Amino acid sequence: MNGSGTSIDFRAIDKILEKYDYKKSYLIAMLQSVQEIYKYLPEEAMTYIGEKVEDLSPATVYGVATFYAQFSLEPKGKYEIKVCDGTACHVRGSMPVLNAIRNKLNITEGKLTSENGLFSLETVSCLGACGLAPVVVINDKVYPQMTSDAVSIVIDTLLKEEGGN
Ligand code: FES
Repeated sequence: MNGSGTSIDFRAIDKILEKYDYKKSYLIAMLQSVQEIYKYLPEEAMTYIGEKVEDLSPATVYGVATFYAQFSLEPKGKYEIKVCDGTACHVRGSMPVLNAIRNKLNITEGKLTSENGLFSLETVSCLGACGLAPVVVINDKVYPQMTSDAVSIVIDTLLKEEGGN
């Protein structure tokens, strides 16, 4: 359930490196492009970039990737759940909603992805929809004024669609 299972298409990564002329100043853009393909940054891809780009090392690439919140070092689920924990959402109960999701999907604190790999869960800061607080976003769909019960029903529905129970 981690990056080691992903098979890497190194030719696709070569193409990205070529596009950016193997220049380390484009490292962020390179990583963004890799993340677009895999939805996260597989370790093998970061190592490859670190070895291929002049004046870089795998350790530097890894350091940059962990520094920026936009990068994920773990594979994401088919359903990416984002729970807003900005001030407005927090005040209106985003934490009980988050805990309900964790319980439902058995995602312990500090973990990102459910055991079946279907769901990943993260908290984000203000999504700019404070009037709808507390807000949950699943993939690109916004779920306004969420409660623990409502979010459980949403997840049940998704599980049903996936053939679960
Ligand atoms: S605080 Fe959640 S949308 Fe603004």
